[in-house]
Amino acid sequence: MGERPYTILSCGISLDGYLDAATKERLVLSNDADLERVDAVRAQCDAILVGAATVRNDNPRLLVRQPELRQQRRARGLREAPMKVTITEHAHLDACSEFFATGDSEKLVYCASQAVPIAHRRLGAVATVIDGGQPVDLSQMVKDLHDRGVRRLMVEGGGRVHTQFLTADLADELHLVIAPFFVGNSRAHRFVGDGAFPWNPDRRAHLAETRQIGDVVLLRYALSSRFVATS
Ligand SMILES: NC(=O)c1ccc[n+]([C@@H]2O[C@H](COP(=O)([O-])OP(=O)(O)OC[C@H]3O[C@@H](n4cnc5c(N)ncnc54)[C@H](OP(=O)(O)O)[C@@H]3O)[C@@H](O)[C@H]2O)c1
Repeated sequence: MGERPYTILSCGISLDGYLDAATKERLVLSNDADLERVDAVRAQCDAILVGAATVRNDNPRLLVRQPELRQQRRARGLREAPMKVTITEHAHLDACSEFFATGDSEKLVYCASQAVPIAHRRLGAVATVIDGGQPVDLSQMVKDLHDRGVRRLMVEGGGRVHTQFLTADLADELHLVIAPFFVGNSRAHRFVGDGAFPWNPDRRAHLAETRQIGDVVLLRYALSSRFVATS
């Protein structure tokens, strides 16, 4: 495999391991202080990736919120926010969603081969559509991102995307934030689905840091030998 970006998986979960509440409303798992931390991690990255279901369900902007962080990026000769990247099989994405409509950064859509013509029609004016294979091959995708200059990638979910990055051993760090409540609804999405994970009872992941942030806790795991213990 060619080179790939240094990759940070970031996610908040409930005490019972859910990413959302199986409702139409976005579930707030984080708190203000933790959102600031996430913002700072984003500001250090070249690209932020989410799955198409997250674009549809959460309608995230994926921008850098704090003015001083945007200013620091500008001073480094970068755009105010990292590139935005999504993956889709069916290209059921709205060109008017916040993902595409906000920020002046480049937007990339890695699309399964069959849906590339639809993706071009729907999203061609607001994003670069890339044929990612059938389904999108994540190993090829991260290599392509590296070829496009992405050296540091932040993956912000959802569960299907996290599962693939972890099972394919394509992650260098995991930032897992635990919110102090239960969801208690098995229709909600879990942090990950079934899979053969490189970390199991015989090969435990390295817990690099724990940090209490108000009423949530951040667990930071080193998942590869490339892990760099910066904040
Ligand atoms: N708590 C948190 O930190 C957090 C963060 C992010 C998201 N979430 C929650 O997570 C939920 C969504 O999670 P999810 O697991 O359902 O979805 P997801 O991982 O966001 O997206 C899954 C979708 O991405 C596309 N996709 C993924 N891998 C692909 C591949 N290899 N090839 C082609 N397409 C691929 C497919 O898109 P198409 O369906 O378009 O074909 C698939 O349905 C949302 O409800 C959101 O609220 C929570």
